[in-house]
Formats: sequence, structure tokens, C-alpha cells
Amino acid sequence: MKPETLPPLDVETLWRLCLHVVRQRRLGKAPQDGPALTWEASQGFTLGDEWSAEAGELFSLVKPLLDRTHGSAPWVLGQLGQSLNGCIATRGGDANYINGAEVLLHLHRLRALSDAVIVGAATAALDNPQLTTRRVEGDNPVRVVIDPSLRVPPSSKVFSDHAAPTLLVCDAEREAEAADRVGADQVLGVPRLTGSDGIVDVRAMQAALAGRGLRVLFVEGGGVTVSHFMRQGCMDRLHLSIAPVVIGDGRPGLSLPQDLSMGDCARPPCRLYRMGGDVLWDLDLRASAASDGMASTST
Ligand SMILES: NC(=O)c1ccc[n+]([C@@H]2O[C@H](COP(=O)([O-])OP(=O)(O)OC[C@H]3O[C@@H](n4cnc5c(N)ncnc54)[C@H](OP(=O)(O)O)[C@@H]3O)[C@@H](O)[C@H]2O)c1
Repeated sequence: MKPETLPPLDVETLWRLCLHVVRQRRLGKAPQDGPALTWEASQGFTLGDEWSAEAGELFSLVKPLLDRTHGSAPWVLGQLGQSLNGCIATRGGDANYINGAEVLLHLHRLRALSDAVIVGAATAALDNPQLTTRRVEGDNPVRVVIDPSLRVPPSSKVFSDHAAPTLLVCDAEREAEAADRVGADQVLGVPRLTGSDGIVDVRAMQAALAGRGLRVLFVEGGGVTVSHFMRQGCMDRLHLSIAPVVIGDGRPGLSLPQDLSMGDCARPPCRLYRMGGDVLWDLDLRASAASDGMASTST
């Protein structure tokens, strides 16, 4: 039942509620352990009159992250911002300004609601990102760089700016070498992480991260990394933001190996959100089309 004393929710109020829920989770507390305006209270709301339209949209987008409880199984949200023709950057690796400011703000919100933000070695090397929550109120997640070949420069911001804890993930066999580069406290060596094919076993990495208390994982890119998570069945949700731009011969987004007939291709349940000039597809990679209130789109 909706408590009558609570004011209508605008985005600012909702965001404070989100941060409260996530801080409780990170501290290992149930949401109801906290002060007023708890998660439990929020359950009384519906996405109706009491919410601004913007707050309602934000809530439905981030609810899956808020639903995670301390100690629950690893859960993964991926994201890619891409052009109309499916590229996430130019061939040379420039991904700036594909998406507009609204999508950027959304990425920072997702970082703030996750335990860890993960990028592949190419993104860390080419973009030299900070991976912080500087555009929103909220705590930085742990920054994770998948760098099995140890090619990301130790001078990169993530390893040198001390803005948030950072972990370079590599095979345990190269842990000492990695520690020499970026310091032992910034290395997570995982036994049998890489097979003879050079592919990182995403589940082994997830288990190692869970051992550090990192279970709600935000995979921010690039395309190779997100694709590996999907191929190995390790992604629960994907936010695909499509911008009205065409990039000639750029770096690909999703790349999956199957050559299936059209009828066998995945058609995950999804919702659409306008983000400025971009369109965000929220894809539920676990649910069947009939569940979770999501409808498959059709043309
Ligand atoms: N538009 C966007 O949303 C967005 C987001 C992020 C990045 N980007 C852009 O994307 C480009 C980089 O993306 P990318 O797809 O080329 O590369 P990427 O995903 O950033 O990094 C791929 C590399 O990470 C390592 N890696 C990650 N997961 C692995 C796995 N499961 N198995 C084996 N190796 C794994 C490998 O490093 P080694 O090859 O060293 O072994 C692999 O080559 C940059 O230009 C960046 O600007 C765009």
C-alpha cells in the first residue's frame, strides 16, 4: 500500500532513493534496515501519477539493478552506444560524441548503481577513461580492466589517478608481471582465466570478482568485451543506445558467431527509451517475451 505521507517522486528524490538502496546493498544490509524512504516504501509506488514521467522512466530502467541484494548471484548489465550501422567507434578508435549528453549521464548513473564497471583492454588503452561517477551524485564503483596481454599502459588514468579502486584482471600465471606494472593491490590474477585460444573465461572472472564482493557488474564496452559476455551466456541485460549517425567502416558493436536462420535469431523482450536524440533499447536477455511485463517489439 502506498504511504500517504510520501511526496510525489521527481528524478532528484528518486535518485537519492536509488543511492540509498545501493549503499545498503554494498554495506550488506537489507534495504529496510535504513532510514525513511526505504526500498520497501518505494515498492508501494506504481509508475503512475505520483511520479514525474522522467522519474518513472528512470525507475523502470534502473529497477533491475536495485533489485539485487547483498550476496546474490552475479548479475551483469552491458552497454554499447552505436551508430545506425552498428559501429561503436571509428576504425581508429574514436568513440567521442557518438551518443549525446543524456546517454552519457545514464552511463554515469549505471556506474553509481553497480559494484564494478568493466572495460576491455582496447577501450582502456585507446580511450584512457576515468570510469568515475563525476556527472552524478554517487559513489564510484570498482574499475575493472580485462587485460590478459598486459598491454594497457601503467600510466593510464585508471591505474594512476587513485580516483577509485581498480583491478587489472589477468591469468594468475601473469599476476606477478602485472603487479610489477601497476602494483599488486591493483591486480586480480585468476587461475585458468585464459584458455589456449586466448579467450577469457568470463564465468571464472565473475567468480573471482564475487570473491571480492563485486556481484553487480556493469560492462561498459567495447564491442569485443560485451560480445564475449554474451557468447558465454553471462549477460543479463543490455542497454543499446543508437545514435542517428553513420560511421563508415568503424569498430563493430555486437559480434556473435552463429549463422542462424532468421527464425532462430534471438529476439529478446525489450523496451525503448528516448534519450535526447538517441534511442536506448533495454534488452532483457534472460526473460522470455511473455514475462516481466516487457513486450517484444515488432514492425
Ligand atoms: N560506443 C561505446 O559505447 C563504446 C564503449 C566502450 C568503448 N568504445 C570504443 O570501443 C573501442 C574498443 O572496443 P573493442 O571492441 O575494440 O575492444 P574492447 O572490448 O575494449 O577490448 C577487447 C580486448 O580486451 C581483452 N578482452 C576482453 N574480454 C575478453 C575475453 N572474454 N576474452 C579475451 N580477451 C578479452 C582482449 O585484450 P587482448 O587483445 O589484449 O588480449 C581484447 O582484445 C574503442 O575505440 C573505444 O573507444 C565504445
